[in-house]
Amino acid sequence: MKHPILKAATGLLGLLLLVVSCSKSSDESPTDSCTGVTINVSATVTNTTGAGLSNGSLAVSATGGAGFTFSLNGGAFGNATTFSNLAAGSYTVTAKSSAGCTGTGNFTITTGDACAGKTIVVSGVTTASDKCSNTGTVTITATGSSGFTYSLNNGTYQSGAQFSNVAAGSHTILAKDADGCVKSATVTVTTATAGTNFTAVKNLIQTNCISCHNNSNQNGGVSFADDCGIVSRKDRIKARAVDGNPSFMPQGGQLSQADKDKITAWINAGGKYTD
Ligand code: HEC
Repeated sequence: MKHPILKAATGLLGLLLLVVSCSKSSDESPTDSCTGVTINVSATVTNTTGAGLSNGSLAVSATGGAGFTFSLNGGAFGNATTFSNLAAGSYTVTAKSSAGCTGTGNFTITTGDACAGKTIVVSGVTTASDKCSNTGTVTITATGSSGFTYSLNNGTYQSGAQFSNVAAGSHTILAKDADGCVKSATVTVTTATAGTNFTAVKNLIQTNCISCHNNSNQNGGVSFADDCGIVSRKDRIKARAVDGNPSFMPQGGQLSQADKDKITAWINAGGKYTD
């Protein structure tokens, strides 16, 4: 049951609402004029050139109106049609015509491959290593890009292209450019040939010492069976065979003066495998 006055009041309220609603829609006349208007936004997407880089861009345009301004991700509208310095990700571009009509487009910038299209060539120049110590060198050369750093066998990258104290054998060389693009190759460090002084001493040891100093008969715990066993004991060889300290070797005799001189000459030359 409704009182007639209440009924009239309700009707008046409804009329008021209608008036308010009418006046509001007349304020939004631009919206009205957009009815049936479709704004299409398109963009030419430029992806980043590598992970973590903010160098992507969107070159935007719109159809369905005139005098467009553009907004990126809800930001301020402006005349610029290119949004640059963008990281990989999703972006919403809104285009607004001079009539105030809008349209949006969603675009994705992806992480590009900074190394695509580069032809990096890596090569290495080596010098031989001593058989008994690592004295080889490797010098890396890289072309096809810039800002190179270098690594030997996946070790720490360094700006210098030369590596020292390298063992004989096969090695991986790597060059990395400023964008982190890596190219590798394999080089071989050879073993340097034996020096003439060493060879002379080795020969006299074969003749005078090996019978008592080989792998199955190691008098005094010493074997001269391998070349580096000779090199590592050079001081004791001189002490026993040249200086007789504490007694002469070979046991029960002495080397000829010529053979003693060969040992002295080798030690004076450096006492290495290559001397
Ligand atoms: C007939 C066996 C015999 C011959 C040959 C021989 N040695 Fe020995 N050598 C020994 C014996 C035994 C010992 C352990 C006792 C000693 O040190 O005197 C020894 C020990 C050594 C040692 C280890 C001890 C030290 O002083 O450092 C050296 C080095 C050595 N000999 C060098 C030589 C050299 C160099 C020759 C050859 C020019 C040679 N020997 C030839 C028997 C021999």
